[in-house]
Amino acid sequence: MAENVIDISNLKKYFAEVKALDGINFSVKKGIIFGMLGPNGAGKTTTIETMTGLYQRDEGEISILGLDPERSLKMLQKKMGVQLQSPSLFPRLKVVEILNLFASFYQNPLKISNVLSQIGLQNKKDSWVKKLSGGQKHRLAVGLAMISNGELIFLDEPTTGLDPQARQDLWNVIRNLKAEGKTVFLTTHYMDEAQKLCDDLVILDKGKIIANGSPEKLINDYFKDRVIELEDMGLNNSFKERIKKEVFYNRLSFEEKKGHVLLYSDQIDKTLKSLFQLADNYERELNDVVIRKATLEDVFLKITGREYRDEAV
Ligand SMILES: Nc1ncnc2c1ncn2[C@@H]1O[C@H](COP(=O)(O)OP(=O)(O)O)[C@@H](O)[C@H]1O
Ligand SMILES: [Mg+2]
Repeated sequence: MAENVIDISNLKKYFAEVKALDGINFSVKKGIIFGMLGPNGAGKTTTIETMTGLYQRDEGEISILGLDPERSLKMLQKKMGVQLQSPSLFPRLKVVEILNLFASFYQNPLKISNVLSQIGLQNKKDSWVKKLSGGQKHRLAVGLAMISNGELIFLDEPTTGLDPQARQDLWNVIRNLKAEGKTVFLTTHYMDEAQKLCDDLVILDKGKIIANGSPEKLINDYFKDRVIELEDMGLNNSFKERIKKEVFYNRLSFEEKKGHVLLYSDQIDKTLKSLFQLADNYERELNDVVIRKATLEDVFLKITGREYRDEAV
């Protein structure tokens, strides 16, 4: 069995009456990209801050590279790199200066030139940090986490607010970390990011882990097959009840989200046929019918009954 670099059990962290972490359990294997996915306020940052010794936990066990951050923080800091959300990036320093500063914290840091080329900022090394674009600042923040040359890198929503191209660029930086044998612990509120980037993940919601596994496993566990999505306009409740009862009922799970009805089925052809048959019988028009594969968004909707809002922060 692969060695775990992180083992968390029954971790609790409360802020007054807010149960930011309400007894979470998970393990992270060596050499993977592990994702913690959850909406805003789920407890992702609290998890990272508790694991990296910024907060004391209220209850539970934390083992990071075999060490407890509350007892062995100094030793642990040499072995890990941490990028926190919205890091203050010292606007009055130049890129190369801030990298040198961070490198000086560690015994065996990466070479500055190596980091610059990995994060694609070679030609920005003499720029002021405050002059960088949003995407460049994010990449620099990841660079500051990797310069430790630690075997475990924590990244807290590294791509939040970036445009699609800048996100892709950062995904490549993160994939390179894995290719070099590092373990990456990453938080994100982007479903697609978790699905594409992570080998293994947990979904966190209101301080609790509501699902865990590889993206494929999560999707397969919940959805054997496909989703039929159709516009809700003009479908009244009694017609929806009929869909539930009559459209190949034993194969179907039925969910609603704003403006749409979702039918999950592992026998999509039969479901589709009986859906159109039903519409015909009751002289209903079906609008905007789309057939697609299930995604992590479907998993979230199905588990929580709530729509996952992918708000940019
Ligand atoms: N220092 C703090 N004091 C009080 N409440 C906090 C503090 N940090 C986080 N919280 C609360 O804990 C919950 C989880 O927050 P956070 O870990 O930042 O979520 P996420 O990173 O997933 O958006 C939220 O309800 C948040 O308001
Ligand atoms: Mg956060």
